Parts: sequence; C-alpha cells; structure tokens
Amino acid sequence: MSDKIKVVELFAGVGGFSLALKKSKGNYEVIFSNQWEPSTKNQFAFNALNKNFKKHILSNEDIQFAKEKLPNDFDLLVGGFPCQDYSVATTNSKGIEGKKGVLWWEISWILEKHKPNFVFLENVDRLLKSPSNKRGRDFAIILKDLDEKGYNVEWMNINAGDYGYVQRRRRVFILAWRKEKLNIQKELNISDAFHKGIFRKGFKVKKFILEKEIDLNIFSDKVDVTENYNYGKFLNFGVMIDGKIISGDFVPLFKGKQKKLKDILEDKVDDSYFLTEEQIQKISILKDSKKIPRTKPNGEKYFYSEGKMSILENINMPSRTMLTSEGTINRASHFIEDTNSKGIKGIRRITPLEAERINGFTDNWTSDVMTERQRYFCMGNALVVPLVAKIADCLSEKNNEIKK
Ligand SMILES: C[S@@+](CC[C@H](N)C(=O)[O-])C[C@H]1O[C@@H](n2cnc3c(N)ncnc32)[C@H](O)[C@@H]1O
Repeated sequence: MSDKIKVVELFAGVGGFSLALKKSKGNYEVIFSNQWEPSTKNQFAFNALNKNFKKHILSNEDIQFAKEKLPNDFDLLVGGFPCQDYSVATTNSKGIEGKKGVLWWEISWILEKHKPNFVFLENVDRLLKSPSNKRGRDFAIILKDLDEKGYNVEWMNINAGDYGYVQRRRRVFILAWRKEKLNIQKELNISDAFHKGIFRKGFKVKKFILEKEIDLNIFSDKVDVTENYNYGKFLNFGVMIDGKIISGDFVPLFKGKQKKLKDILEDKVDDSYFLTEEQIQKISILKDSKKIPRTKPNGEKYFYSEGKMSILENINMPSRTMLTSEGTINRASHFIEDTNSKGIKGIRRITPLEAERINGFTDNWTSDVMTERQRYFCMGNALVVPLVAKIADCLSEKNNEIKK
C-alpha cells in the first residue's frame, strides 16, 4: 500500500465521508466520489459536492453505470448506502441474484472487481435487525457476501451523542478488511478481537453486556442464508473472522466534554425562521399524543399511537436525530425559543446553518447551490462528520500498526 490511503466514495450525498477523511489524522486522499439522486433532474446534493471539492473526480451518474468507471487503483471504499431488502435467489442459470435496484449488489460488484484493502460503510441501525419477519437475515447476507469476497468485518452501532457529539444520531458503522493481505486480528481469538478491535482505539466501552456466536460457515452460500438464517438480530457490536461471528451489546464510556444543542445555535437569525401562531398551533397538535384507529391490509383493526413530545427542544442536551423532513412543519423537526429582531420572544425552527453544525459540517457547506428545504434534506441524509473522522483515525492507526 502506498503511504496515502486512496479512497473511492459512493452514495456521497454532500460529501460527508470526504470531509471527515480530510479532517481525520489519517493520510487519506479521496480520488473519486459518486452521487446520483434518483428521480429528480435537480442534482442538488451533487452541486454541493461540486462546490466543496475541486481536486478529485466527481461523478453524477447512477451507480449502476458509474461503477464501471471507477479508478483502477484504490485502497478504501466508503459510503452510506440505503437499507433495503437484500434477499437473494438462484436464477434459472443457477447463478445467484439479488433484487434489482438493491444498492448492496453494486457495492458487492465493485469489491469483486477492485478488491480494495478496506471498506468503511454507514447505515441505519435497522440493518442489524431487518427484515421484521426474519430478524438479522439481511445483515447476515451482507456478512456472508463479504466473507465470500475475502473480507473480515467489525461493526459498531454508535449513538454520536454518547461520545460527546452534538446530535443523538444512531448509525451502524461497518469496517471490513481483506483477510489475505492484512493480518488485523487474525492471530487473535474471536473473543479477543471483540476487545482489541479497530473501534476500541477511539470508542471506549464501560462493559459488554451480552455475547452471541454465529458461524456463517454452516451456510453453503447467500441463497442458503436467505432461506435458512434463523439466529435473530445482530447486536450493537460485532466481529466476523473467516465467517465466524461474535456479537454483543455495550455500555458506552465517554469522559470528554459533552456538546449541547445550545453550543451551536446562531446568535441572531432572520425573522423568517420564527413561526406564526397558526404554525405553532399545528406543531402543538403534531407533537401531542395521539391514538388513531387504522386498518391493516388484512382488514384487522388496530390503534396507531404516538406519545407526547415537547414542542421545544432541550438545548442543554445533544440534539435529537435530524431527518430529511427537517425543513417542514413536522413532528420530528426541531424548534427552539428565541427573541426576534423586535425583541419579542417566539418559537423558531433551526436554521440550515445550525442543521449543518448539528452534523459537524463546515458552516455554509450547502449554501448557494440549493434551496433551504434541500439544505435541511441533505443534512437529514448526511452523517456526523467528526464521528466519522474519529473512526477514520482508528482505521488509520490500525493500518500504521500492521505496516510496522
Ligand atoms: C444516506 S445518503 C448518504 C449521505 C452522505 N453520506 C452525506 O454525507 O451526505 C445516500 C445517498 O445515495 C444517493 N443515491 C441513491 N441512489 C443512488 C444511485 N442509484 N446511484 C448513486 N447514488 C445514489 C442518494 O441521492 C443519497 O444522497
């Protein structure tokens, strides 16, 4: 491996991974980023990539076409891919086929062709337990695929707010490395790997709560996993070495300074962010508790219920998770108390700049190249940049260790 870790970024959005790798202490160089927003002409997220990164190749094409155009030589593949149905079936020609449009299989194709030494992925934590009728099957398929392609894996489901960051955002981070080239953890027994893993360099834990062992070698292939996996959901931390998995839960340990929502708020914001009486009424209803009668597709009646939420955010805590609906009057959106330009107290939404700060992006990362609504949307899709930078530090440290 050259001194620089050459990186290809997929599903780049506004470039959260690229920015995090730039901020990391590791010697990363992103050489190619791909971003394509399906079903819209306006490629606003790509426009932000274009605004912020001039030095590397930027590709604005559906990954099913862009995958053919990746640079030949890179060491690390990164990306936040959507959580979808990963089941596979045997085709008539006895090949193995995943569902069309499922983006994991694009990643898988790239790994088969380019065999990068490392892979660093992000996903929602639902990935560890989906689908609901066969808990854990989808992640088992991904792990089996990675094992077959020659990778060992470590994952950790991290709530950024537990490690001092300004947002309570829970995401699963997956690190994979090539078995034959890199000796990471190979010499350790699997339980040791749990405690001496890559994440441990940056993310301390008070204790591990539960352990579960699964041997994917009992399944002949991904179709077998699809049809017969029956071990339940994966837990919040895990390691897979040569198809053998150990997985457990953990209590996070953080002793640094905890960032709070109030730390990133703007001093004076435009009056247009303040809500009208009518909008406040609407939010009170949306955030109130409710019990709505509904009917399942099979005709069965049930009640959909939601608890009461405070209209105002607690600014003395890290913020709740930002969603793509942030720019709208919505139950999940963030509202705070503030004083407008006339000195009158009111309730306002958070600004697009504050949304960027909640994710730890550089101020105005998305300004000038998209509408305000799209700026919130992109932040709801993005990641907590300093957290990803910290994981990149851990990976780079491990890489330096094994090079010695
Ligand atoms: C979860 S977001 C990733 C956000 C990113 N990590 C960031 O920091 O902004 C997934 C991204 O994948 C993009 N995407 C979805 N389908 C795609 C496809 N077929 N080809 C390329 N990109 C796609 C979406 O537009 C979205 O920006």
